[in-house]
Amino acid sequence: MNRYNQHAGPIGIFDSGYGGLTILENIRQLMPEYDYIYLGDNARTPYGTRSFEIVYEFTLQAVSKLFEYGCQLVILACNTASAKALRSIQQNDLPVIAPDRRVLGVIRPTVEALGNITHTGKIGILGTTGTIQSYSYPLEIKKLYPQYEVFGEACPMWVPLVENNEHRSPGADYFVHQYINRLMMQCPDIDTVILGCTHYPLLLDKIKKYLPEGVIPLSQGNLVADSLKDYLHRHPEIEKRCTKNASCRFLTTESPQKFSAAASLFLHEAVDVSRIVLE
Ligand code: DGL
Repeated sequence: MNRYNQHAGPIGIFDSGYGGLTILENIRQLMPEYDYIYLGDNARTPYGTRSFEIVYEFTLQAVSKLFEYGCQLVILACNTASAKALRSIQQNDLPVIAPDRRVLGVIRPTVEALGNITHTGKIGILGTTGTIQSYSYPLEIKKLYPQYEVFGEACPMWVPLVENNEHRSPGADYFVHQYINRLMMQCPDIDTVILGCTHYPLLLDKIKKYLPEGVIPLSQGNLVADSLKDYLHRHPEIEKRCTKNASCRFLTTESPQKFSAAASLFLHEAVDVSRIVLE
């Protein structure tokens, strides 16, 4: 039984906070014709240190809210939510609440790209504590590339640096250097490092500075955008229910003023934001 009546609507993009804006930006650049709604659960961010149960509960609330706004397709533009909630929502909730709607994550499209990039087959993952502890990346990589070896390092200080606009400060260098060293000490032959958190592209300059020469940092935005384009091409039944007026709305669970100010860091434009409550 579908709980929702609308048969067409914008593409929903969800993140625990601002990080998913890096994904939204790439998606809109590639496919500006669609309508989008971005939802940031800024009042309850970060998700990275929260339990499976809580991340699942919060993510399902967000997806349900985006369905209420008419979204036929929702992208979890958050690695933590993709790692901890996506599978349950796809397998257990969607068949009950909205069998004809879809929810996609960011882990699979990122992992698919590895085959074209790595030479050594030694892959590093940088992510939140939740993403690293979930083993979602190693499990997904093993499915596609069983011969690869995967090394993960949690970077709990990086999201707060970005959320507090300290990512360009000299203080940020200390933590970027520290986590990259810890990762590379696990295996000096790592040649590809997945930036497995949507906040990390804002630290990219510093990440490149401390990664050894030749090691490739893999940002997700363009990978997720390409994969979404391909998905819409392969699923015309979903594509035709995504409306196309080139609009973008923003929803936040925190103050709209705070969101606008911070979002301009990520998007370099003023945005129109409304506050909503998730429950
Ligand atoms: N943007 C989220 C991710 O990609 C991390 C932020 C958080 O901890 O909530 O994992």
